[in-house]
Amino acid sequence: MLHRPRRLRRTPALRSLVREHRTPVDALVAPLFVVERDADAGPISSMPGVVRYTLAQCVEESKRLYALGVNAVLLFGIPAHKDAVASRNAADDGIVQRAIAAIEAAIPEMLTIADLCNCEYTDHGHCGLLDENGDVRNDETVALLATVARSYARAGVDIVAPSDMMDGRVGAIRRSLDEAGFTQVGIMAYSAKYSSAFYGPFREAAGSTPQFGDRRGYQMDPPNAREAMREIALDIEEGADIVMVKPALAYLDIVRSARDRFDTPIAVYNVSGEYAMMEAAFERGWLERERTIDELMASFTRAGADIIITYFAADYARRHGRGR
Ligand code: PBG
Repeated sequence: MLHRPRRLRRTPALRSLVREHRTPVDALVAPLFVVERDADAGPISSMPGVVRYTLAQCVEESKRLYALGVNAVLLFGIPAHKDAVASRNAADDGIVQRAIAAIEAAIPEMLTIADLCNCEYTDHGHCGLLDENGDVRNDETVALLATVARSYARAGVDIVAPSDMMDGRVGAIRRSLDEAGFTQVGIMAYSAKYSSAFYGPFREAAGSTPQFGDRRGYQMDPPNAREAMREIALDIEEGADIVMVKPALAYLDIVRSARDRFDTPIAVYNVSGEYAMMEAAFERGWLERERTIDELMASFTRAGADIIITYFAADYARRHGRGR
């Protein structure tokens, strides 16, 4: 007998009937940049279509996203003042704290996830507190993050997302939250976060480029795969509710291995550089926008991701979400 796999590809209805994976809009998380000083708001040149919002605009954008079917935002704050010890990060009147409270008040059903890191708040641009040699001090940074997490929790955050890659931070944050009574606040850990060139545009957006050195002493080395499984296992053991692989496109093998190995929900972060290269190609007419984005989302789901953090969230939701 001649096998004819083409039989099931003949019409849209047939293809849809046998489709193995779908990416629902409610699996998406939209990253949002919010500025403390209105003068810092505006477009980001390396990320066409992505904007640094004022507090009021950030609430409006959250409402638009929610209306489209996107149920979660990932917040990044850009403070008015940076210093060596990230003072504005743990301030209860800090920009992320205010954004969390404002979004929760305007759209109580929206999930607020706060990126938890110091690099946007330090003048040197590193993710933690430095020692006299300019190296990041692990344990002191972890203690600071645990304090910041409580401040985000007081503002009403649903989930904190530590992205610093310090050792032991998930356990410390969990303990800190629990001791303060915030047992319901979740942790989405950037578990396998690589030291990647694909974060370039984000650093323009957040003004968080390290002023000296790089992040290779704390973020993972791109050629390592087994180490990612170890990092994920540690974070789960320390109490992470959701683990993450980042970046996405060049690391889908890691997503697949993690899916096969762990039952915890897995998030993948389709990062700024991935967005920038696609947008550049769309702008030139080199790639077809809608088909490319849909194919990209399918690849994340097929690799095993449950949650997709993407700057394309609104675009995808406009075509596939509630508001379509
Ligand atoms: C903060 C952080 C970064 C990203 C998310 N959280 C930047 C970095 O580690 O340099 C990158 C997000 C993106 O590129 O879209 N540590």
